[in-house]
Amino acid sequence: MTVTAAGIDALAFYGPRCYVDMAELAEARGVDPDKYLLGLGQRQMAVATPCEDTVTMASVAGWRALEQFDIDPAEIGTLIVGTETGIDHSKPAAVYVHEMLGLGENCRTFETKHACYGAMAGLTSTMDWIHAGRARGRKALVIASDIARYGIDTAGEPTQGAGAVAMVVGDSPRLLELDPTTFGDYTRQVMDFWRPLYSKYAFADGHYSIDCYLDAFTGAWRDACEQAGGRDAFSLDNLDACFYHVPFVKMARKAHHRHCETEWGQSIAREDQLATRVRESYDTQVAPWLELNSVVGNIYTGSLFLAIADYLRKLDNAREGGRISLFSYGSGCGAAFGTATVVEGAGNWRQQVDPQPHLDQRHKLDIPAYEQLIRAADSADHNDAPYPEPSQWDLGEGLYYVGTRDHIRHYSGNPANAT
Ligand code: HMG
Repeated sequence: MTVTAAGIDALAFYGPRCYVDMAELAEARGVDPDKYLLGLGQRQMAVATPCEDTVTMASVAGWRALEQFDIDPAEIGTLIVGTETGIDHSKPAAVYVHEMLGLGENCRTFETKHACYGAMAGLTSTMDWIHAGRARGRKALVIASDIARYGIDTAGEPTQGAGAVAMVVGDSPRLLELDPTTFGDYTRQVMDFWRPLYSKYAFADGHYSIDCYLDAFTGAWRDACEQAGGRDAFSLDNLDACFYHVPFVKMARKAHHRHCETEWGQSIAREDQLATRVRESYDTQVAPWLELNSVVGNIYTGSLFLAIADYLRKLDNAREGGRISLFSYGSGCGAAFGTATVVEGAGNWRQQVDPQPHLDQRHKLDIPAYEQLIRAADSADHNDAPYPEPSQWDLGEGLYYVGTRDHIRHYSGNPANAT
């Protein structure tokens, strides 16, 4: 059987039930609130309670993607969970998710890790799986699930967040068709962000990580141009929207600046003219779809796809058939740049993609409560530690981590009940 298309057939998000307000966090840290609100572009930051982990978030997002797009779990032939926030050195979070979603025994299931690039690695490998004819008509489920943790009162603190994005990948996609010949890759060993096995918190060389990200953009973009036979294939004039990895909203602006500079640098010599074109392009091709990122924060490997969720939930039918670019960056580092085409009819799925009803039910933590929660999350993840109680954070129905007994993680509830 010749397969001609592969792409995203369904997409759904799960975010934790609690958040903090960035102006309040800035005040508590003795920082001008505008630094977080304008300098980083963040308004709110999702905070995972001790009961929400990579497995629970991935399972609820996965369940929503299947249920809202009417996909039978039996159709899933590959499950990949991309995460920086593994819950075991050996056992993949994906196997727990496989059970929570009731997937079949003959489903290929594994976890990918490469900081924020993990889910993109999963997505492109499922695209290859479909094009190679290995899917036999089945679909793949790729889930990005992470909790970004730098710690209280660190430089990285305002760039934390948590959440999961689940994508079903198939050969008749309803949302986005991935352009297989356009993907360019980039890898380089750098120490910009890492998390040793003994640490729950990431270490980052923050400003250097921004440079590494931008260099990786140029590297992946050039490779993509080479594969596509020239830069015309990616002309910004022919792209409806550009998506980047979004550790904080301002980073997408920096990335788009590099994107425009790389493409137009030689043709627009005057700096003021270039700056105006970049600003206009950012305002129309990037900024409108960063709203979810600004209220959720960095969800590591899912944050590129959270911006895409924002685009899809606002998709007007006139944009169908248009092309978008995707850039994924994972510290360490690995990156990919490619394009996708918006499928005709994708706008009909706006409501299914939109996480706003769930976000509207979140509750705000004041800063002392947030700090207490972070300390509770640290101690919940030890063998025989007291059970974290979902009711303590007013979490309602859902699927929750409830502690480790005899070195085995325990979960309670059902992803279908999550609100
Ligand atoms: P910092 O030193 O606290 O902040 O670190 P800053 O001094 O650089 O200020 C940030 C911005 O706010 C600047 O804007 C300031 O000018 C502005 P810029 O010059 O860059 O355009 N600013 C203000 N604006 C308005 N009013 C004010 C004001 N004050 C300052 N009053 C940093 C910021 C992001 C480095 C830090 O939070 C950090 O280390 N974060 C973690 C690392 C990170 O997010 N890196 C991003 C690239 S690497 C990546 O994306 C991968 C990653 O997601 C991990 C993975 O792959 O898994 C991190």
